Amino acid sequence: MADAPRKPLRSTRSYGKLDRDGFIHRSWMKGTGVPEDVFDGRPVIGIANTWSELVTCQVGLKQLAEHVKRGVWEAGGFPIEFPAMSLPETQMRPTAMLYRNLLAMEVEESLRANPLDGVVLLGGCDKTTPGLLMGAASVDLPVMFVSSGPMLNGKFRGKDIGSGTDVWRFSEAVRAGEMTLADFMAAERGMSRSAGVCNTMGTASTMASIVEGLGLCLPENATLPAVDSRRQALAHITGRRIVQLVKEDLRISRVLTREAFENAILVHAAVGGSTNAVIHLIALAGRVGVELTQDDFDRLGREVPLLVNLKPSGQYLMENFSDAGGVPAVLKEIGPVLRSGALTVSGLTQGDIAAAAETFIPEVIGTREAPIGPSSGVWVLRGNLAPDGAIVKPSAATPALLTHKGRAVVFENIEHYKARVDDPELEVDAQSILVLKGCGPKGYPGMPEVGNMALPRKLLEQGVRDMVRISDARMSGTAYGTVILHVSPEAEAGGVLALVQDGDLIEIDGPGRRLELLVDDAELARRRQAWEADRTPSQFTRGWYRLYIDTVMQADRGADLDFLVGKSSSEVLRESH
Ligand code: FES
Repeated sequence: MADAPRKPLRSTRSYGKLDRDGFIHRSWMKGTGVPEDVFDGRPVIGIANTWSELVTCQVGLKQLAEHVKRGVWEAGGFPIEFPAMSLPETQMRPTAMLYRNLLAMEVEESLRANPLDGVVLLGGCDKTTPGLLMGAASVDLPVMFVSSGPMLNGKFRGKDIGSGTDVWRFSEAVRAGEMTLADFMAAERGMSRSAGVCNTMGTASTMASIVEGLGLCLPENATLPAVDSRRQALAHITGRRIVQLVKEDLRISRVLTREAFENAILVHAAVGGSTNAVIHLIALAGRVGVELTQDDFDRLGREVPLLVNLKPSGQYLMENFSDAGGVPAVLKEIGPVLRSGALTVSGLTQGDIAAAAETFIPEVIGTREAPIGPSSGVWVLRGNLAPDGAIVKPSAATPALLTHKGRAVVFENIEHYKARVDDPELEVDAQSILVLKGCGPKGYPGMPEVGNMALPRKLLEQGVRDMVRISDARMSGTAYGTVILHVSPEAEAGGVLALVQDGDLIEIDGPGRRLELLVDDAELARRRQAWEADRTPSQFTRGWYRLYIDTVMQADRGADLDFLVGKSSSEVLRESH
């Protein structure tokens, strides 16, 4: 029987025409040095590269792109690299999260508008991974991901130190008078020793692990160090493989099934992943029409214990995770609950990958029978203070504080917090609950990572190292503490959080998943009237800020822009050439 005729490639609409339009499309590509025979109908592979010199997390991507290109050429494709917004987490103000959706828009429009048949996404720093994936998912081409890879382990006084996690620890130690400024500066020099993303299980490595859980990259993509030659080989093989995916028309929507998202959540729990992943995965699911809620994280997270011993939930760093077997070994240890039939872009199912995997260092990757810790997913708390949910990461919290009642010490916004937290007159003790408002998606805007606010100096000096903190903010994936985040609706959107006052009693019942402000309804109604009357108009009146504030959804819906949910497809209906 004759083969079914292959569907024409998108790119032939531009490069396959022997007329004026084809002349224009080809000629202005030939000007880049491409020979005639490249326009022979071969798959055109975009390489969307978030490379920049703005942060170490992205700086290795230029070289990785060259390895992807080698593989594409070798497999008979035509690689075309183009830039995408870099989103350097540690450099952008007011917060990189404000721009995740802008990157997603940029990628979506670039992929659809250009004559591309498939795409390799190159990203690493926290928001680049979800931003790239969200945009690509809405266009629905064949897609593969190559991550930056983690930087080498940090070093300080002969010991390993981890990105972010040890910064928080050292800065508290300096404030408490337990570390000198000279040592602090020495730690700064030793923390980021190479290209690559944060070497803890922060948001970047969590998202990279999740990309493996989703099946959108080759095995070990999450963990191979940025400077390891095996990562370059992985990029090379990705280049070969994406050409094959185009030939098979294996689009991202065929990989991003409900099962794939469930595997991603299982991996998230097993690695002790960042709370930020909850927002990013919900937003990505929204792009492909998969129903996913915060409750899926709470429910599925209970199916696996903490299997990976990495900071901030554990002890080791990404280089050690790579040596121990990486995400494939975690998939094996997840065992019977793994959705093993889920397809991956490698051509293997997750079950195939798990079956071939091995754990080499049991101190770093545990087993279901001898885990690193109990269930470490996220808990979703609800009550009058968070009717649409708030989350807490129990593995990063003090267990005793997960069931707690205390009086609120309220900060109306981050500036109020900074001005007040170290005031010796501040009425606060270890039982108090620090409440921060104005840091949600609309309120900041962009929902910064400030939910793990540092403790008042006078309590640090008394030896206090953790307190309950509640906010509509996010926190860095490298952070720890009893930190209740993503309170929805946020204060700016009129959530009850806006009405909390100093001295109010708040009750947290983590195991019962409750978060209650113990103030009666009549008093809350009175406060709401006053809050409405006191509101000042937003200072953000134009540009991206304005569009973002007007259209961003709350954290429980993934903080995507409301008009970006769903797909646009790869179809372009008009032709101006
Ligand atoms: Fe880029 Fe941590 S700052 S990954």
